[in-house]
Amino acid sequence: MIIELKHVKKIYDKNGIEVVKDFNLTIQDKEFIVFVGPSGCGKSTTLRMIAGLEDITGGTISFDGKVINDVPAGDRNIAMVFQSYALYPNMTVYKNMEFPLKLKKISKEQRKQKIMEVSNMLGLDEYLKRKPKALSGGQRQRVAVGREIVRDCDLFLFDEPLSNLDAKLRVQMRTEITNLHQQLQKTFIYVTHDQVEAMTMATRIVIMYNGIVQQVGTPKEVYDFPENTFVAGFIGTPAMNFIKGFITSDGYFETRNEEETEEGTKEVTNVHILIPNDKYQVLKEKGYVDKEVILGIRPENILQEERLKETEVDLPVENAELLGFEYNLIGHIGDSQVISRIVANNIIRNGDVVKLYFDMNKCHFFDIDTTNRIK
Ligand SMILES: Nc1ncnc2c1ncn2[C@@H]1O[C@H](COP(=O)(O)OP(=O)(O)OP(=O)(O)O)[C@@H](O)[C@H]1O
Ligand SMILES: [Mg+2]
Repeated sequence: MIIELKHVKKIYDKNGIEVVKDFNLTIQDKEFIVFVGPSGCGKSTTLRMIAGLEDITGGTISFDGKVINDVPAGDRNIAMVFQSYALYPNMTVYKNMEFPLKLKKISKEQRKQKIMEVSNMLGLDEYLKRKPKALSGGQRQRVAVGREIVRDCDLFLFDEPLSNLDAKLRVQMRTEITNLHQQLQKTFIYVTHDQVEAMTMATRIVIMYNGIVQQVGTPKEVYDFPENTFVAGFIGTPAMNFIKGFITSDGYFETRNEEETEEGTKEVTNVHILIPNDKYQVLKEKGYVDKEVILGIRPENILQEERLKETEVDLPVENAELLGFEYNLIGHIGDSQVISRIVANNIIRNGDVVKLYFDMNKCHFFDIDTTNRIK
């Protein structure tokens, strides 16, 4: 099913605030779309408008070209799985899954056939006679998913379905839901505030902030080419480093910070590194020479490789976090906190000053006022 949102907005009567602003998106058939963003950014509201559980204040939503703004939720033939899925506690797993089919007046024979097919797909065969309280969290979640699948819907909506599960189970269910999408070949829209879930499950990610879509793209696109500092900082852990500094007329990026000395305040430069020519040309053409910009560089692009000599910086290590295979080195360069992630070949201790190199081909420059990516 193709879902199209055009200039969709939402104002809850009580507060008068536009919690979803001018949302535009076309979701292709069989896509796995993930809405991701911080708490309160409007993810659930958008999903609930698609489901028909919430009125649409402005704009249109259409399914396969037909505007459905005024179609009641019950007539939209959508499967929905939420964080707090309410299974019927007095019914067995089988009866829970049978319930929606009974409502649809499907014959007993066909009901059984469908339930067995879905139960097999989800690995629920041995639990069919149990009641929900005799199941683990993950098994219950699977029954909730099964109860939706039996209905043969074209569109599946998930709102943080895994957030009640422990970390290990979440990782397992993540794979199960991805496999399910492959098997069912239906359109999935999945809401989460967990960027790892978004990166690992989605065919395309929609990143939202303050009711506004910040970027839509494949996981690789949003990681490699974030359109603004919000997306750049939201996707990836540890987060991208941001360092304020100036573009010089001879093609360098340099920081200029004020420092108190005995003779008074003076300006110091902690970073003075060469910008790759293709990037510098763009910055120059767009008028950023002698202007302040934000340099964005991911922790894994601050390395110990001497081939990058021209971009050397000294990092006084405040905290060396050994994660086994790698270190997260945390320190300050000028006013900015910087994290470098390097392979743990040597022992590094807090207080060491480590020579590191910025892989400037992988860095980004952002406009300081608009926060948009320049190059
Ligand atoms: N029924 C309601 N009445 C008034 N305001 C609401 C209502 N439901 C949500 N809101 C507000 O709308 C905004 C968006 O809420 P929404 O539930 O869509 O956020 P979310 O992105 O799903 O957040 P979370 O990750 O915390 O679930 C929030 O500021 C919230 O307070
Ligand atoms: Mg929500």
